[in-house]
Amino acid sequence: MNKKIALTGIKPTGLPHIGNYFGMYVPAIKLAEKYDTRYFIADYHALNMMRNPEVIRELTYEVAATWLAMGLNPDESILYKQSAVCGTFELTILLMAFTSKGLLNRAHAYKAKVQENTEAGKDPDDGVNMGLFTYPALMAADILQFDSDVVPVGQDQKQHLEMTIDIAQTINHNYGKELLKIPEALIREETGAVIGLDGRKMSKSYNNTIPLFLPPKKLRKLIMKIVTNSQTIEESKNPDECNIFALYKLFAGKEQQQEMRKRYEAGGLGWGHAKQDLFEIMNETLTPIRDEYTRIINNKDYIDEVLDKGAERANDIVSKKMLELRKAIGLA
Ligand code: TRP
Repeated sequence: MNKKIALTGIKPTGLPHIGNYFGMYVPAIKLAEKYDTRYFIADYHALNMMRNPEVIRELTYEVAATWLAMGLNPDESILYKQSAVCGTFELTILLMAFTSKGLLNRAHAYKAKVQENTEAGKDPDDGVNMGLFTYPALMAADILQFDSDVVPVGQDQKQHLEMTIDIAQTINHNYGKELLKIPEALIREETGAVIGLDGRKMSKSYNNTIPLFLPPKKLRKLIMKIVTNSQTIEESKNPDECNIFALYKLFAGKEQQQEMRKRYEAGGLGWGHAKQDLFEIMNETLTPIRDEYTRIINNKDYIDEVLDKGAERANDIVSKKMLELRKAIGLA
């Protein structure tokens, strides 16, 4: 039996942190055990805001190297660059004919920008390009071109998935058959979000992240900055109220966690020591991934090869789908 298809899209926006690692990369890679997986780098989407060719090129390599370092197997999964698949562009144009402007007016990113402009007394569409406005149509094409069954996304992308379904249903309804597979969103739970250095959710916008590929010295330095309370060394401490332990738990096995719990509760454990232990366990887990990342990012020819092969496989699948659609619609 054919496996179901899962599609993951990633915008090239810089190197990942521990929050991305546990929140997105680990679960996304795990999907490959059960699904036929496709991962792509959303460089068309990036173009809406990035205008420096060197930056886009470099970020694309970084994202690809990150996925490969995390264990993405390019022989099984398809890893490709969005702009390398002609059918994505073609399908976007086709979908747009079925996408009402009103639907796109309601898209969060666009709406937020309009509101921001209005509040600042500017023209509502100030700084809005058509790439931003039609973002949901391109995203729908990414998904629908593969007949994707599931799409893992964060809460912020839920609306985009609903729009994808809306557009696909309009088309299916018009032609009276299931031309496009209706996808299902796998929404990542926000609960259990990885906390950052200051105890809030780890996020670039809070400036409290621990980057994944930091060299050990810098990693240690950052860990030493984790915010703790002012309990003395002797005092018994509650691990469940401690930012260090919250991170420790993510890296430690059950037994190690229990062990650490006891040390917290027994008293005599200083924050400096707890941080050192956290550093050691983190560094142990991250070193092989970091080494692998360094090896891959320094081998751009290999990345090109992987992406070229990925694009070829994706183009194969998508061009068949496009032919089917063109015929059904009357373009072929
Ligand atoms: N919009 C997604 C994000 O910002 C990235 C993305 C683009 C995507 N196309 C997609 C995700 C298709 C899933 C499926 O994170």
